[in-house]
Amino acid sequence: MVAEEPAAKEERGGPLRLGDPSSAVRLADAPVDDVARLQTGIGEFDRVLGGGLVEGGVVLLGGEPGAGKSTLVLQAADRLSRAGHVVVYVSAEESAHQVRLRANRLGISGDGVLLVTDNGLPGAFARARTTGAACVVIDSIQAVTCPDVDAAPGSILQARECTALAVAVAKSTGIAVLITGHVTKEGNLAGPKTLEHMVDTVLYFEGEYRHAYRVVRATKNRFGSTDEIGVFEMRDGGLEEVANPSALCLSDRKEPLAGCAVVAGIQGSRPLLVEVQALVASSQYGAPRRVVSGVEAQRLALALAVLERRTGLGVSANDVFVSAAGGMRLSEPAADLGISVAVASATTGKIVPLGWCMIGEVALTGEVRPVAHLRQRVAEAARMGFTRVMVPAHNLGAHGLRDEGSIEVVPVETIARAMALCLREGNGGAVAPPLAGSATGAVNP
Ligand SMILES: Nc1ncnc2c1ncn2[C@@H]1O[C@H](COP(=O)(O)OP(=O)(O)OP(=O)(O)O)[C@@H](O)[C@H]1O
Ligand SMILES: [Mg+2]
Repeated sequence: MVAEEPAAKEERGGPLRLGDPSSAVRLADAPVDDVARLQTGIGEFDRVLGGGLVEGGVVLLGGEPGAGKSTLVLQAADRLSRAGHVVVYVSAEESAHQVRLRANRLGISGDGVLLVTDNGLPGAFARARTTGAACVVIDSIQAVTCPDVDAAPGSILQARECTALAVAVAKSTGIAVLITGHVTKEGNLAGPKTLEHMVDTVLYFEGEYRHAYRVVRATKNRFGSTDEIGVFEMRDGGLEEVANPSALCLSDRKEPLAGCAVVAGIQGSRPLLVEVQALVASSQYGAPRRVVSGVEAQRLALALAVLERRTGLGVSANDVFVSAAGGMRLSEPAADLGISVAVASATTGKIVPLGWCMIGEVALTGEVRPVAHLRQRVAEAARMGFTRVMVPAHNLGAHGLRDEGSIEVVPVETIARAMALCLREGNGGAVAPPLAGSATGAVNP
C-alpha cells in the first residue's frame, strides 16, 4: 500500500532559496537490496568488515607506524585481483620498487594489481574508472593530494579533501575504497580521528606491535558489527590469519602460578579465552600505582574496591599491575570475576588450579551477576580442554546449563564464595608468598 502524500501546507516564510524539493524519496520506496560485498577471502579481515568490503563503501584502516597496514591492504588487493577484480593500488609513500619488494616477500605476483605511485588522487580515480576497477587502495591518506587544494600533503585540510573525494567517487561509481592512515600514540597527527565521521567503516590495528600478533578491530561500521575482531600473526610472509585465537591468549605452563586466572570472554560473535595476569607489590610511593594493559583501569578500580570491602582482602595500599595475555582487550563486564580472582590470587599467594576458568560480572555488592552468551563461553572452555568453569549462579536457571561433556560447571553467587572455591595453597617455589598486610584469612563465603 502506498502512503498518501502528506497534504501540502501553505509555504511558510518569505522567498527563501531552498533548492529542489523533489530530491526527497519516501523511505518505503528507497532501495532495499542487500549491500553487495567484495570478499577479500582473508577470513579474519572479511569478518571484521562485516562480511567483506562493500561496493561503494569507504574503509579507513588506522594504525601506528609498522603495524602492518600496507601489508594487509596489499594482501587484500592481491586476493581481490586473483578473484578477477581490477584493483588500483595508490602507493603514495613508497616507490614502485618498495611495493614490489614487499609483494615478493609476501609471495604476491601482483599481476592483477595496477600500481599508481603518483600522489595525485584525482588521476588515480580517473585511472580506476577507465579500467573498471572494483577497488581502490590508498596507502596512505597522509601522503596523497588533491592538486586543487592549497595545502601540504599530510595536513588535516588535504587529508579531509582527499577523503571527501574518495567518498564522492565511491558513492557515485560503486568502487570500494580502502584507505590507510597513520596515528600517533595520541591519535592526533592529521589522523584518521578527524576523518572517521566521513567514511563508512573505521578499523584499527590495536595492541602491542612488538608482539607477533595483530588484532584489527572495527570502531565504526555502517555495514556490520563493531564487536568483531580480526586476529593475525605477523610473519615474514605477511599477516596470517589466526584461526584459534584462544590458543594464543593462554599459557601452556604445567604448574599453576599465583596471580593468573583465565577468563572466557566473547569478542564479537566469537568466544575467546584469555589469561589475566596480576601482580601486587608493596607500594614504594605515597599513592599506590594501578597499571593495566588490555584491561580497563576503571573496571580494575571497581574490582579492587569490591575485593577490599566485600571480602576483606587488603589491596588498596599496594601497587597493582594487571594485563591480558596476547595483547587482547578485555573490556566486557563478564571478565570481572577472572580479573578479581587473579588479583586475589596475586595478593594472597594462593593459586587457581590449572583447568579452571571464570565467567561473571561482579557487582558493587560483591554478587556475581549473570552474563550473556554463557553457553558459547562454556563450550569454548570445554573445547580448549578446561575442566571446571565458574559461572554466575543466576545464569543457570535461564540457560538450564549443566556439566557439559568433560567440563564441570561451578555456580557461584558472590566473589567471596568464588575465592573460597578456587584459591588453593600453591606448591612451594612456584608461588609468591602472601604480601604482608593482606588479609588472607578474611575471605568469608
Ligand atoms: N622481512 C621483513 N621486512 C620488513 N618488515 C617485516 C619483515 N618481516 C616482517 N615484517 C613486519 O612488517 C611490518 C611492517 O609492515 P607494514 O609496512 O605493512 O606496516 P605499516 O603499518 O604500513 O607501516 P607504515 O606506517 O610505516 O607505513 C614490520 O613492523 C614488521 O613487523
Ligand atoms: Mg605502510
